[in-house]
Amino acid sequence: MKFSVVVEPNGPSFEVAADESVLDAAMRQDIPLAYSCRDGLCGACKARIVEGSVTYPDERPEALTDSDQQEGLALLCQARPTSDLRLEANIADAIAGIPIRKMPCRVSSSTQLSHDVIRIILTLPGKIKFGFLAGQYIDFILKDGHRRSYSIANAPHDGEHIELHVRYVKGGEFAEYAFSNMPEKAMLRIEGPLGTFYLREDTDRPLIFMAGGTGFAPVKGLIEHSLHIGQTRPIHLYWGARALRDLYDPKMAQQWADQHSHIKFVPVLSDPESGDNWQGRTGFVHDAIMEDFADLSGFDIYAGGPPEMVNAGFDSFRTHGLTPEHYFSDSFEYARDKK
Ligand code: FES
Repeated sequence: MKFSVVVEPNGPSFEVAADESVLDAAMRQDIPLAYSCRDGLCGACKARIVEGSVTYPDERPEALTDSDQQEGLALLCQARPTSDLRLEANIADAIAGIPIRKMPCRVSSSTQLSHDVIRIILTLPGKIKFGFLAGQYIDFILKDGHRRSYSIANAPHDGEHIELHVRYVKGGEFAEYAFSNMPEKAMLRIEGPLGTFYLREDTDRPLIFMAGGTGFAPVKGLIEHSLHIGQTRPIHLYWGARALRDLYDPKMAQQWADQHSHIKFVPVLSDPESGDNWQGRTGFVHDAIMEDFADLSGFDIYAGGPPEMVNAGFDSFRTHGLTPEHYFSDSFEYARDKK
């Protein structure tokens, strides 16, 4: 059984089978709806149902609150239609025309960045050109068919390779392999580019980047891209971590701030260790932003990190005037392995 979906106003229309998610159907038909985790965790695919109804295969997805449902919002990566639908959904035009492909790749290097983060550089075989937007991500397709998603940490102008930041997670299927068993020059299989966490360039609104842990990876790509295209919109980069050793490349962030007067860098530690001798900001990173900006209505905010941080930021920033269409998030990196 199939249902029709119309995206308002004047948006595309497409068909969805009753047993597939609205987002999967859109991706299959090259309709560029906004999304990130595809796992019900980040909220990036949230849309308003103007007419019609949906259901969810398991329990209600994590990123959909009671008040969201009362407001008529749905998570398109999980929602299955039970009728024809009319939606108000975010369209991510810039990804239109960038092919999503499955392809082999080779690990050209793996470097320890901190006690629990490595940088992996992937190269593609032959002359395959990998088109992507800064901030997007790839999925590793593992031998058992499971997938693990990682943000791309470099920008397309530097796109001869793919840079990833991989944090060690005990029991994490890919992380365990990458930290202990991955041979030099290992061949892996990826799919990408995925996601709609990219820089909206048709505006001069000042930017706040909020990174948590390895959520710094896509933010790094976005800042490098912004510098490459010569944007001078003010950038406030907040990077939150537990202790100093968890900020795995603060020198790079500080260097941007030292070299570019429009960039400010604010590291924030939630639980500094005594040996850190930390004189900087403490607490949760989204609280630091709230303390510094009484009015967020004029900003575009990009958040990369764990769902708790991304969702807490969204709820908090709205109380300081941020409207949802100016909040962009990427938080699959901490999501569960996907099949
Ligand atoms: S909750 Fe749907 S893409 Fe993340």
